Amino acid sequence: VIDIRSLYSKTGLFTYDPGFTSTAACDSAITYIDGDKGELLYRGYPIDQLAEKSSYLEVCYLLLYGELPTAAELEDFGNRVTRHTMVHEQMHYFYRGFRRDAHPMAIVTGVVGAMAAFYHDSTDINDPVQREIASIRMIAKLPTIAAMAYKYSVGQPFVYPRNDLDYASNFLHMCFAVPAEEYKVDPVIAKAMDRIFTLHADHEQNASTSTVRLSGSSDANPFACIAAGVACLWGPAHGGANEAALNMLRQIGSVDRIPEFIARAKDKEDPFRLMGFGHRVYKNYDPRAAVMQESAREVLSLLGVENNPTLQVAQELEKIALEDQYFVDRKLYPNVDFYSGIILDAIGFPTSMFTAIFAVSRTVGWIAQWKEMIGDPQKKIGRPRQLYNGATNRDYVDIRQR
Ligand code: ACO
Repeated sequence: VIDIRSLYSKTGLFTYDPGFTSTAACDSAITYIDGDKGELLYRGYPIDQLAEKSSYLEVCYLLLYGELPTAAELEDFGNRVTRHTMVHEQMHYFYRGFRRDAHPMAIVTGVVGAMAAFYHDSTDINDPVQREIASIRMIAKLPTIAAMAYKYSVGQPFVYPRNDLDYASNFLHMCFAVPAEEYKVDPVIAKAMDRIFTLHADHEQNASTSTVRLSGSSDANPFACIAAGVACLWGPAHGGANEAALNMLRQIGSVDRIPEFIARAKDKEDPFRLMGFGHRVYKNYDPRAAVMQESAREVLSLLGVENNPTLQVAQELEKIALEDQYFVDRKLYPNVDFYSGIILDAIGFPTSMFTAIFAVSRTVGWIAQWKEMIGDPQKKIGRPRQLYNGATNRDYVDIRQR
């Protein structure tokens, strides 16, 4: 690691690194990734252990405060979160301003940004108490906001949160309960949902997290910063990849068509890429994909659709790609998004909700990173440099002479 902080002021030199492949923009003690080993740790704890033994709310506590909670601390944290699960009643009017067929991510981006208007008593970033309240509010309300976006899109009434349910079950309840019908969350589905939240909770300095940090570096309020993160996550190369991966698996449709799509992915003239494959940091199997594959099997077996053609295509595609020299040479493995779409689809979510669910999960990671940045004594406004390659100095030409 070369510390080049004062390189420019001392020498006039700066580095050129599009995509930040070799540039660290911060110190962080939250998440560690060893991309070559395929290792992911939250505050030092391996992701597979957390996915198996912990719960999403406990993981939230860990990411935010650095240590696993005691039973009393977890209970207190859970109570603080559930106190804030409802959104302001006026927010209902805000939803009505959106078209029925608006993408849920468009709604979530807008509503999270608008939280600063509804909760401006927690926008002072210099007040640690307000920072804490804003953090808890977002962790508590994001599931409600995303579930409301879903209900709005399917034309059903909003369902209020149920604070007697755990985080994942409450989210499923708000999405799938309908008036006058009993809805009971299956524990296997709730566990799969909780795992999806846990596996997506943080991933160090990815594009959306870096966006949150960059937005926060100007001292923008936390709701605005998280809304910026949601907007960045929407892209198909980032959070939109699970939606794109499922669409691709369905487009392939059957195992016999896999070679055709593998050939397209390898063809440099064809913009097609295997969605859910490859990662900027993992040059080995994404440890989250392994847990996700296991979870997909559990959910599909509960629902009695073990022979689901999409899962079959996914497993066969993975097998063929992992033996293909093109993918081997480039160290392209399935990432977290490859199997998550299959689970979400089996649970009953439309693909348009996938990225919104990712945003719910990642909110805690964004907040933990934002808080770490705000508390960093070395914090500076982010200001990347550029290599200018436009026109040199020229005189203005009057419009009649152009
Ligand atoms: N299918 C086919 N070829 C690929 C794929 C893919 N999915 N991913 C990378 N490659 C190839 C590239 O064409 C390139 O080949 P070349 O060296 O012959 O030119 C080489 O592998 C390196 O690719 P880069 O784009 O330089 O790798 P980078 O690290 O910048 O990209 C990314 C990572 C964006 C994730 C990429 O692998 C991709 O587009 N994957 C599909 C989208 C996806 O699944 N995104 C989810 C990421 S995980 C997340 O956000 C939670």
